[in-house]
Amino acid sequence: MINNLYGQDILSAGQFDRKSLDLIFSTADRMKRLVKSKGGSNLLKGKIMTALFYEPSSRTFGSFITSMQRLGGGFIPLQGVTYSSVSKGETLPDTVRTFASYSNVIVIRHPEVGAAKMAADFTELPVINAGDGVGEHPTQALLDLYTISSHFKKLSGLTVTMVGDLLNGRTIHSISKLLSLYSPVTLNFVSPDILKLPHELMNLLLERKVTVHEYEKLDELLSKTDVLYVTRIQKERFTDLKSYEKLKHFYVITPDVMKKLKKSAILMHPLPRVGEITIDVDLDPRALYVREQMANGMYIRMALLSLILKK
Ligand code: CP
Repeated sequence: MINNLYGQDILSAGQFDRKSLDLIFSTADRMKRLVKSKGGSNLLKGKIMTALFYEPSSRTFGSFITSMQRLGGGFIPLQGVTYSSVSKGETLPDTVRTFASYSNVIVIRHPEVGAAKMAADFTELPVINAGDGVGEHPTQALLDLYTISSHFKKLSGLTVTMVGDLLNGRTIHSISKLLSLYSPVTLNFVSPDILKLPHELMNLLLERKVTVHEYEKLDELLSKTDVLYVTRIQKERFTDLKSYEKLKHFYVITPDVMKKLKKSAILMHPLPRVGEITIDVDLDPRALYVREQMANGMYIRMALLSLILKK
């Protein structure tokens, strides 16, 4: 397969087609086998990744770092920017140009929509968007879709129900774009009225002839859902904390809710969770967020780094 990701930025899930997803997923399969058999390789020896995280992260930061380590590369970890010159008021372009002169790829998480694109405009190096505010989180969408496709073997024909903060949930924005490539799929969007999917994204899905439905209640959908994708109500995106308090536990997945979910369905969550899935659900074999989804983040990011940095 031709590697059309070499040297490329990863800024939006909208940039992928099915061919490039096949390449990323087959490379992730290889990375999984590599980690399980040998722990890693020296494929990226001599390559350095800057991880520039202006917002908190556990999984994305941790899996990018370990991906580089497992492939024999190095990294500059900037998690929180308190101890870099950003705290002295340095601009994003200056920070990006600085670390571009030390490394081969920049991974950036930032609270502002479009920050990753702005970073990419200031360097020749490939830039990977690790989450830009309420915009997108394309690498999360890749690992989510990889998890779904590994489980069901095919994506067309699935009914995916996404629940929670659909307005601010960047993982939702990105995975919806990827799923739209596999029509016929049915996408159910379940949220409180003030947290509905952004109009522009809904219009894009409609243009792509995806079957979409919006609901406020989840119950009646459980028996018809193949993938239940739950997200956190995002406190950090609310200006009015009273609204957040009212909505934070609008949807809670408990063992009783799981009884109504199809036996063959899977339950996913990008994490972190703050009470929207109770911990006693973790033992349910359909709960893939603990068993597969997180680990797949590392295989997908190993795949991306290897494809972007090696011809
Ligand atoms: N899913 C995700 O982006 O998790 P982190 O915020 O911990 O990176």
